[in-house]
Amino acid sequence: MLKTHTCGELNKKHIGKKVTLAGWVDRRREHGGLTFIDLRDREGIVQVVFNPEKSKSSHKIAGEMRNEYVISVDGEVTPRPPGTENPRLATGEIEVIAQNTAILNPSKTPPFYINEEVEVDENLRLKYRYLDLRRERMQKSLLLRHQGIKFIRDFLSNRGFIEVETPILIKSTPEGARDYLVPSRVHPGKFYALPQSPQQVKQLLMVAGFEKYFQIAKCFRDEDTRADRQPEFTQLDLEMSFVEVDDILNLIEELLTSMVEKIRPDLRLTKPFPRLSYAEVMERYGTDKPDLRFALELKDLSDIASQTDFSVFRSAVAKGGKVKGICAPGCAGYSRSQLDELNKLVQSLGAGGLLTISLGGSAGSVDDLTPEMIKSAAAKYLTLDQVKEIARRFDAASGDLLLIVAGKPELVDMTLSELRQEMGRRLELAEPGLFAFAFVIDFPLFERDEKTGRWQPKHHPFTSPRDGDEPLLDEAPEKAYSKHYDIVCNGFEIGGGSIRIHSSELQRKVFRLLGYADDDIEALFGHLLEAFDYGAPPHGGIAIGIDRLMMLLAGEKTIREVIAFPKNQNAADLTFNAPSSVNKEQLDELHLQLREE
Ligand code: AMO
Repeated sequence: MLKTHTCGELNKKHIGKKVTLAGWVDRRREHGGLTFIDLRDREGIVQVVFNPEKSKSSHKIAGEMRNEYVISVDGEVTPRPPGTENPRLATGEIEVIAQNTAILNPSKTPPFYINEEVEVDENLRLKYRYLDLRRERMQKSLLLRHQGIKFIRDFLSNRGFIEVETPILIKSTPEGARDYLVPSRVHPGKFYALPQSPQQVKQLLMVAGFEKYFQIAKCFRDEDTRADRQPEFTQLDLEMSFVEVDDILNLIEELLTSMVEKIRPDLRLTKPFPRLSYAEVMERYGTDKPDLRFALELKDLSDIASQTDFSVFRSAVAKGGKVKGICAPGCAGYSRSQLDELNKLVQSLGAGGLLTISLGGSAGSVDDLTPEMIKSAAAKYLTLDQVKEIARRFDAASGDLLLIVAGKPELVDMTLSELRQEMGRRLELAEPGLFAFAFVIDFPLFERDEKTGRWQPKHHPFTSPRDGDEPLLDEAPEKAYSKHYDIVCNGFEIGGGSIRIHSSELQRKVFRLLGYADDDIEALFGHLLEAFDYGAPPHGGIAIGIDRLMMLLAGEKTIREVIAFPKNQNAADLTFNAPSSVNKEQLDELHLQLREE
């Protein structure tokens, strides 16, 4: 090694020791005839002092050093002179007096500060990702990710799981997104698909008798990039044989709890994880991935609304819609422009509009409200009693602001769930450092595709119906529930899974119900259906989005912050400039011809 110690490990115990260090110049200062270099490596920063009286040549070389130069230093660890200690630095009690030094490689001036936390355009950061990754924050994120993944591997290995790698060049698995396709050179006109997840392969591993499988698996989905979505991402993929829903949920609860407690002991977890039904979370939060760090629950007002003279309410309910709302505590004094902002948000989500009711004045309880205290565009269509009844439903008090949306049930729920998040942010309702995990269970097996009118699986087509619900596939598919579960945390879907179908007959039936022709079923899923006929055990599993989990654990707002080389918002890798053009020979080999655009 070109170094005996890391920069960050040095402390008082090393005083008097001769050390050789190597790393990057974080900062250089001249002071009183001495040169000070903050020398940085992965483990931290240490101050190196170049004194011309100790080594003239080293002092001269230090004068040539600039930020991000790679250098090595031989020197002695000494205590810092009294009064010059730096309590903010782990190595702040000592310094290294240089005896010998060398510049191993100079550096151009970086396009952004590495030694300071400043806002930098993300595309510039991604172009120079190798410099961006030198920043302390990114080093910490990737270290945390490593610790998390190591924890998972150890935890599952200790419980009898084995990690099996599955193919990247494979056939499309329907997970609801577009596939990435790879043309075959050997089979002209044919394509591999990159796996959207290893779903079918892990099921085949269960047929193969592995019983407990996991993998830190790369998945590929050609969908629009978002804060919590990348075209290429990583799952903890897991499958077990001879299990029921509770076995998987208990295992995942133990895994996540012990992992968070190990790698982020400063965070607080809600334990045990609540298990909420899909119907309940939709009713109370308007979304299947609720942020449970705060209440601000949705209340259904349809019954009261239908009795009012307010035509927006009445017609929404008459058309089979709903009137629901949330109560923003202490926001009755919101200005016109603040209310306009909320209205705009609601309209941008597709809802007709937002009705606000401000409960002003200083009434002790809702019962004491007077008409003068109520401000609302619909005030004249609502009786005082109706407003009081609405307010009571929220347990509201004077000073609160009621935010109400009317329309199609799905739109009302979606809009209010976004509005709830927005108000949660504005009012800082979420306790910092709280990790509110929950399982969402009892999902419907299917939903209707609004455009085509066809049934779609709520999760994926391999999900088993709930015990006893199989006959509903023939009678009333909309009434069938599934053995699918999601794990959510702080408003994000972290993972999802299910107990699977393991009979070829039932699986075929589901495919037919989803509108697949028999020929297509054989072409797309024949391998799986055949495998089921060779003794497939009952099995189930789950996949956890590692990137999303790590984003939350690192306290970041996008998964790009916890991925070493992510794609940008436009699905491009800016470090490598991918995707890129290829030459004609490559295209010819692949039997491809580009269309003139
Ligand atoms: P699902 O499609 O729900 O299930 O994915 C599981 C988890 O993977 C993460 N995830 C993503 N993360 C980043 N970018 C993306 N584009 C992306 N897409 C999904 C989410 C999600 O909860 N085979 C099934 C699992 C199973 O049934 O066992 C599956 O992939 O955190």
